[in-house]
Amino acid sequence: MTPLRFAALASGGGSNLQTLLDRIDSRELPANCVFVASNNSRAMALDRARQKGIPAYHVSSKTEGSEEGVAVKLLNLIEHHSANLLVLAGYMKKVPDAVLQKLHNRVVNIHPALLPEFGGQGFYGHHVHEAVVRQGKTATGVTIHMVNEEYDKGQIVLQRKVNIPSGADAETVGRLVLAKEHDSYWRVLKAFAEDDIVPTDSRDPAHAVQIHPRWLEQMRALDV
Ligand code: GRF
Repeated sequence: MTPLRFAALASGGGSNLQTLLDRIDSRELPANCVFVASNNSRAMALDRARQKGIPAYHVSSKTEGSEEGVAVKLLNLIEHHSANLLVLAGYMKKVPDAVLQKLHNRVVNIHPALLPEFGGQGFYGHHVHEAVVRQGKTATGVTIHMVNEEYDKGQIVLQRKVNIPSGADAETVGRLVLAKEHDSYWRVLKAFAEDDIVPTDSRDPAHAVQIHPRWLEQMRALDV
């Protein structure tokens, strides 16, 4: 087993990042978070990392001069910190193609709905939950998926359902989904750390990772 050394990209509050760092501290997640980067200098995610002594960087086209500069900087950080997985935790920018190539089949994202529904352009943050409520859905959920050049379309690693109480507004739905995210992302990273999820060399986005059936069973059992 190669020790998991993940880097995280986040643009905002970083509550998902915080749960990962907490699970590392409690020794439930056998991994190291080697650095955190954000396009937003004021992202709370950067403060959360610094509080744990994790290197935190503001990396944007402003700091680097261009989008190409952002790609070069991220590649350098990945190299310098020997990161072997990139974790997107509310990152609002597209991951540069050069980074996706370097960490081929090793970039993972969390989305606050059951993809492929409510995914793609415009479906981020509260917009997702508002659309879900508008369409009168009785359930929504969380999707954790591999990232490739096509946004929100990579191989799905884990989906967990969240039932919507009748009359719930988008804010309530968002809260319920976020709680489920917090209970899910660390489990996926643990599976990477323990080789229950193994990245492949495949160029087929549907086969980015191999997932152990026993692990999938365990995840299904969480919600019954
Ligand atoms: C989460 O809802 C996640 O699914 C989405 O962005 C949000 C990030 O929240 N990709 P936080 O910054 O982790 O609190």
